[in-house]
Amino acid sequence: MRVDTTGKISLDHIYTRPDPRAYFSTLRDLDYNIPELAKPHFQRLIAEYRETRGVPVPTVLDIGCSYGINAALVKHGATMAELYERYSGRDAHRRTRAALVTLDRELVDAGAPANRVRFLGLDASDSALAYALDAGFLDGAVHADLENGEPTGEQRTRLAAADLVVSTGCLGYVTERTIARIVDAAGERTGERTGERTGGRLPWMAHFVLRMFPFDPIADTLAAAGYETVRRDGLFRQRRFATREEQASVLERLAEVGVDPGGLETDGWFYAQLYISKPAG
Ligand SMILES: C[S@@+](CC[C@H](N)C(=O)[O-])C[C@H]1O[C@@H](n2cnc3c(N)ncnc32)[C@H](O)[C@@H]1O
Repeated sequence: MRVDTTGKISLDHIYTRPDPRAYFSTLRDLDYNIPELAKPHFQRLIAEYRETRGVPVPTVLDIGCSYGINAALVKHGATMAELYERYSGRDAHRRTRAALVTLDRELVDAGAPANRVRFLGLDASDSALAYALDAGFLDGAVHADLENGEPTGEQRTRLAAADLVVSTGCLGYVTERTIARIVDAAGERTGERTGERTGGRLPWMAHFVLRMFPFDPIADTLAAAGYETVRRDGLFRQRRFATREEQASVLERLAEVGVDPGGLETDGWFYAQLYISKPAG
């Protein structure tokens, strides 16, 4: 298996298929479960935002949203176990993309009780976003790679609508460059009722990030824009290592960044941490 520059196996080939089957079949074998662990934390933060800011239906921007997985869980009440069964269970290979979309639409149309939220997805994969939109998981999408270029005017307008920005399994590849561009776009936000510029209303953020990727460069970028970042207690199992080679290179990387893997990554799992960033005060 190919290893990328960070020492992890490269999974790029499963991000760009027309439907989520390859994604879920590959990640099922690795017990990938971070969106499920993230779900209650995202739901709590969205509820807190609703209450504190008085916004009844906040807009969440999911960075590296892929096939709209966090939206399916948080907005539409799905579980990872259900999605694994749907996209990689015994019958999955017999279904067409259209049949999968129909099943997803049934879930969306059933209307989860807690879906008072809009989800926008940002991803570099056009096909993953197209699926998430067809399935109805996402309310809108931004197809861009903000590591390598500025958003267009239209993309900036969409990004500016974000009340909250979240991610799972993405930061590390996506860096402070993308975060800075999202924060910059938020400066163009206009008031819903009055149309005046409300640059002070920066989106809240919640990112699950592997321990091998130091969060400091992102926290520093956010601090320069007026944010405070807090790491929440707890460690979150992201997935198993695919091979001994992957584990060995990640252990090396952890040593380089000064993280002790004893009793954690040494036992065969990647671990993520949760960082919450809010405008100071
Ligand atoms: C491991 S997947 C995580 C998907 C989903 N958040 C989850 O937890 O299941 C990483 C996603 O990040 C996207 N991605 C990678 N680099 C990106 C970039 N520079 N800009 C936007 N998306 C990117 C990939 O296309 C892929 O969909």
